[in-house]
Amino acid sequence: MMSTKVYEKRRAAVARALKAAGGGVALLPTAPELPRNRDSDFPYRHDSYFYYLTGFTEPGSWLVIEASGKTTLFCRPKDLEREIWDGIRLGPKAAPAALGVDAAFSVEALAGNMPALLTNQKAVWFPFATHKGLETQVDGWLNSVRARARMGAECPQSQHDLCSVLDEMRLTKDAHEIAILRQAGKISAAAHVRAMKTSAAMLRQPIKGGAREYHLEAELLHEFRRHGSQFPAYTSIVAAGANACILHYRADTAELKPGELCLIDAGCELDGYASDITRTFPADGKFTPAQRTLYDIVLEAQYAAVKVTRPGKRFNDPHDAATRVLAQGMLDTGLLDKKKHGKVDDVLASGAYRQFYMHRTSHWMGMDVHDCGDYTEPGSKPREEKDMLGQLVMKKPSRILRPGMVLTIEPGIYVRPARGVPKEFWNIGIRIEDDALVTKDGCELMTRGVPVDGDEIEALMRG
Ligand code: GLY
Ligand code: MN
Ligand code: MN
Repeated sequence: MMSTKVYEKRRAAVARALKAAGGGVALLPTAPELPRNRDSDFPYRHDSYFYYLTGFTEPGSWLVIEASGKTTLFCRPKDLEREIWDGIRLGPKAAPAALGVDAAFSVEALAGNMPALLTNQKAVWFPFATHKGLETQVDGWLNSVRARARMGAECPQSQHDLCSVLDEMRLTKDAHEIAILRQAGKISAAAHVRAMKTSAAMLRQPIKGGAREYHLEAELLHEFRRHGSQFPAYTSIVAAGANACILHYRADTAELKPGELCLIDAGCELDGYASDITRTFPADGKFTPAQRTLYDIVLEAQYAAVKVTRPGKRFNDPHDAATRVLAQGMLDTGLLDKKKHGKVDDVLASGAYRQFYMHRTSHWMGMDVHDCGDYTEPGSKPREEKDMLGQLVMKKPSRILRPGMVLTIEPGIYVRPARGVPKEFWNIGIRIEDDALVTKDGCELMTRGVPVDGDEIEALMRG
């Protein structure tokens, strides 16, 4: 049986937060099952917040945490008929021992029990934006409590977003989470190695119909799954040639051609935790000089960002460091005309680099690939800054990095054909992405099991 300690500890932290805010009760459902077509559902994926506090992956479950520390679970009842069709259910009787909660009931008793759980509580906490229809449901239960006011039932006077507590907790990963994230990163790195090798092999010995993006996607999925990953953490991007310039492209049917690049952005989810890796490599294993020139600029940008990913630096620092290197590279290669755009500081001020680098360098990563967590420093004061259009806006300073935070570092360059852009770079799209764990004195790249250096990628693909 899995240890429940880590989840008990997290639930206790939530109870303490409620208590510190004056008391109350927190309600948290897991994710609903979603129909795909007719009577088929999408593969079920639990809600990340719910999983964080329970480790429980069955649909139809709710967690209730009271400021006193008492925890109650509602889950699907045992049902022999349904279990024959859909699989074994834990059931409320076994739940306290299996999950470490104080009490458990059938979810069929949820509506009946909820008014009592809400009665005489100072406040009710639930996620505001992530569970459709929840507010209406809570409203209904609160109305039932109000209806009993003359009998002495007191209704919670305030409602709070439970995510404000959980997001802050989830931002700093504990040892249990870090171990899984490292393993997820390792599996995903092996999948990228497999895809690179397959690409080279398929172009060396062409097959009828040609090597296609979906062939490489199949290799990724095979590697994820054979190491126990339950799902991809997001829809895999396998982009041949010019498709790499479409940021949210998916693996489709385009042919991998000699002389062109392939960009793969793919990561597995393992035991509820994501990984997120991008590698860009020559489909046949040999960079052209123009590809290599841009590749090395992106790699240098990534190294510059990695260097400033350490405690005390801010979330925006890796982006600023990467953007500076990219902007300089754009001037050096003629992507941006020096006569028109001036020096690197001018390019950064004008935002001209956005023609070729239009996304941010980082996002938090954890259970969700774009994980929760405030990107600005809590408690800090907004200050005046210029936005993209040069207008003054009030912005809070970005988050100070601390050990245990996990963020991606993913600079790129995407060159669409355009007047004034050297033709040799047209249709080249490059991104390099790794997952960084902020450590005591720097960061650990958890996804470097796949090479990133241009020569090393060529050597791997030759082998
Ligand atoms: N794979 C999604 C991202 O890189 O943000
Ligand atoms: Mn990413
Ligand atoms: Mn990615």
